[in-house]
Amino acid sequence: MNILGIDTSCDDTSAAVVGNGRQVLSSIVNSQVSIHHPYGGVVPELASREHVGSISSVVDRALQQATLSIDDLDAIAVTIGPGLVGALLVGLYYAKGICFSKRIPLIGVNHLEGHILSVFLEKEVPTFPFVVLTVSGGHTSLFHVKDFGNYELLGQTLDDAAGEAFDKVAKILGLGYPGGPIIEELARSGSEDKVHFPRAYLEQGSLDFSFSGLKTSVALFVKEWRQSNKQHATIKVADIAASFQSAVFDVLVQKIVEASTRLGVSCAALVGGVACNRALRECVKQATLEKGIRLYCPRPQYCTDNAAMIAVAGFHRLLNGEKADLSIDVRSKFPVENMVGAKRSR
Ligand code: KG4
Ligand code: ZN
Repeated sequence: MNILGIDTSCDDTSAAVVGNGRQVLSSIVNSQVSIHHPYGGVVPELASREHVGSISSVVDRALQQATLSIDDLDAIAVTIGPGLVGALLVGLYYAKGICFSKRIPLIGVNHLEGHILSVFLEKEVPTFPFVVLTVSGGHTSLFHVKDFGNYELLGQTLDDAAGEAFDKVAKILGLGYPGGPIIEELARSGSEDKVHFPRAYLEQGSLDFSFSGLKTSVALFVKEWRQSNKQHATIKVADIAASFQSAVFDVLVQKIVEASTRLGVSCAALVGGVACNRALRECVKQATLEKGIRLYCPRPQYCTDNAAMIAVAGFHRLLNGEKADLSIDVRSKFPVENMVGAKRSR
C-alpha cells in the first residue's frame, strides 16, 4: 500500500511516499530556513505563502523520486495539527483536492504521532511497549507507547520546548536561527563546566519538564557577562553554549531513564529535531544502556520535520479503519490527549 504523506505544519514543505508503513520510497523536504533566518524565528504569514508556492512541486518531486504516478497512490496522510493554521491549511487542502479527484482515502494525522512513529522508518525497530521522548521545537513530551495509536502521556513541558530553548538561547547569544545545530557545533569547542546553569527536575518523581527558567538564567548571565568582560574573561561563547546544552541534556536523560525504569520497558526511543544532536544521542544511549534498555533513534533526516513519518502514522490509522471526511479541518492546538487511544496517566 503506497501512502503519500504531506506535512506543512511549520516551516518545511514536505512530501513522501511510504510503502506498507515501513519502506520509504521518497522523502522531499523544502526548507524555509533562509526565508525566516533574517527574523530569528518562523514568520507564520511568510511560511504559509512559501507553502502555497512550493507544495505542488514538492509533491511532484516525491512522486518522481518514488517512480510512481498519482494513480498509484492508495491514500494520502496529511498533518492536520498541531501547527500554524495558515501553514497546515495549505497541505490539507492540497491533499483534499487529490483525494476528491482520485477518490482515495484521506487520513488526518497528528504531527506528534508522526514524530513518535518516526522510529519505524528504520530497519531496527523497538518492541511494544516502549517509552518515547519527543524533543522538538514545539514539543517536549514523554509517552508510554503501548501499540500503534495507543499512547499514554507521562509528562510534558510546562513552558518552553527543548528546541525552543535552543532557538531562544541562540538568539540571546546572537548566533542565528535555528539555534539547535549552531549551539551543538559551538558546544563542541566549549567546556560544559565553566558555567553552572540550573536544572529544573521539578518535584520528586515528576516526568514533566520546564526550560523557561534555564533560558532566563542564560539571558541574565549573558547580560552580566557582556557588561563585565573582565570578570568573565576566561569564559567563551562556546563555554556558555556547552554549559547550556548540558543543563538541558541532564534533565532529558534523567527523565527518559526514570520513565523507562519505572515502566519496566526494555526499549526506549528518542525522536524530534533535537534528537539530531549527537551529544544528546550519545548520553541518552549511554544512560539507557546502563539500565539494560535499548535505545532507538531515527537518522537525523527523520528526526526533523518530514512527511515520511506522517505517512507511517497514516498507514496505521488506515489499517485501523480510520478515514477522514473531506470536511475535516486543521487545529492549531491538537492535544495528544485527544488522539484516539491517548490519555493522560495521572
Ligand atoms: O522536529 P523539528 O524539525 O520541528 C518541530 O516539530 O518543532 O524540530 C526543530 C527543532 C528546532 O528548535 C531546532 O533548533 C532543533 O529542533 N534542533 C536541534 C538540533 N537540530 C535541530 N537542537 C539541538 N541540536 C541539534 N543538532
Ligand atoms: Zn515536528
